[in-house]
Amino acid sequence: MAILNINYLIISFFLFLCFINTGDSIQCWYCNSRNDPKCADPFDNSTINMKNCAFEQSLSHYPKVKATMCRKIRQKVHGEWRYFRDCAYLGEPGIGGDERYCLMRTGSYNIFVEICTCVGKDGCNSAVSLQIHALILILIIGNIFAKLI
Ligand SMILES: *[C@@H]1O[C@H](CO)[C@@H](O)[C@H](O)[C@H]1NC(C)=O
Repeated sequence: MAILNINYLIISFFLFLCFINTGDSIQCWYCNSRNDPKCADPFDNSTINMKNCAFEQSLSHYPKVKATMCRKIRQKVHGEWRYFRDCAYLGEPGIGGDERYCLMRTGSYNIFVEICTCVGKDGCNSAVSLQIHALILILIIGNIFAKLI
């Protein structure tokens, strides 16, 4: 009887392990170019680890939102590029469903921010983004105006 109980415990334990490894958990690269220059583009994963976003703490303002995506932030502050790679909670992956494209923000004081969010696969935040060509942007804006007129 005692042996049966131990077997039961062991089986339950392995079932539990299987259970926590499934689901929509994603692994993302986690680094900051200030601590490790290899975090920059082109990304060099030799000294950088991935982390399982399922174990991320939830956000204090959005306790129900889980980290299910990866993110790469490229930021230029006063002429210096900084890179951050981490799990992501909010945001839409890519632009129009294409994860190769990133959101861009240009602020005052020579600040430029590019945010790339992806869910495609584990470690997807290693990718270098594509830039939207200015001409395409003009065509998109032109299209919007054409529809308004
Ligand atoms: C790390 O980078 C190497 C070389 O680019 C690549 O072949 C390998 O798949 C990467 N490792 C992971 C875990 O993505």
